[in-house]
Amino acid sequence: MVKGLELYVNPLPLELEEDVDLAVVIDVLRATSTIVSALAHGAKKVLPVSTISEAFALREREPDLLLAGERGGLKIEGFDLGNSPFEYDEETVSTREIVMTTSNGTTAALKSRRARAIVAASFLNFSSVISLLREFSGKVAIQCAGSGGEFSIEDFLLAGAIVSDFEHCANDACRAAKIVFREAGGSIRSFIEENCGHAKKLSSIGFAEDVAFCARIDMYNVLPVWSENGFVRG
Ligand code: MLT
Repeated sequence: MVKGLELYVNPLPLELEEDVDLAVVIDVLRATSTIVSALAHGAKKVLPVSTISEAFALREREPDLLLAGERGGLKIEGFDLGNSPFEYDEETVSTREIVMTTSNGTTAALKSRRARAIVAASFLNFSSVISLLREFSGKVAIQCAGSGGEFSIEDFLLAGAIVSDFEHCANDACRAAKIVFREAGGSIRSFIEENCGHAKKLSSIGFAEDVAFCARIDMYNVLPVWSENGFVRG
């Protein structure tokens, strides 16, 4: 029997099991938006890790790796890049492999590792994700990264935007995400700026332009797909 599409939204990332056919990882502000930007500008791979010390240990073995990520929204001391998508231009990242550790987004990706396939979603690559789902059948877990273990509206909003294209909700969070997306009324940027705690925090530390950029739809036709230990351009 051919499986249909079953869409689950996880408002916070769950440790997924092998029965999940596809994990869609979302951290709008900013990890998955940054991963999309990195691959769009030619990065070869983005390898999420949990800790700063793991990142340094990997570079010790492979000196060509770029280290990227944030704690408290700010670049980590001794790293090459922070977590602003604007830092990931072609000159900096083209052909490079990037080890990334962020407060929540990279954890959401790592918690998805047992799924049969994993992709990264943001508003920046919205249509690439929708195109994949239109062709997909099986159990899909949409993993919202949240912030500091707390629910984040911006991730849930994107989950809602994605599932609103389909009539295959398999849990109440999926149906609730559709309602939140409807409530936003098409004004993604102002909805995020007005309602999202992490957007306000990022703006307060100088990253208001990142918030505005991460709310833009379809900047890139890029689908980050998990391969072995990180995301590559699919
Ligand atoms: C995270 O992983 O929590 C975020 O990407 C934090 C940030 O805004 O840089």
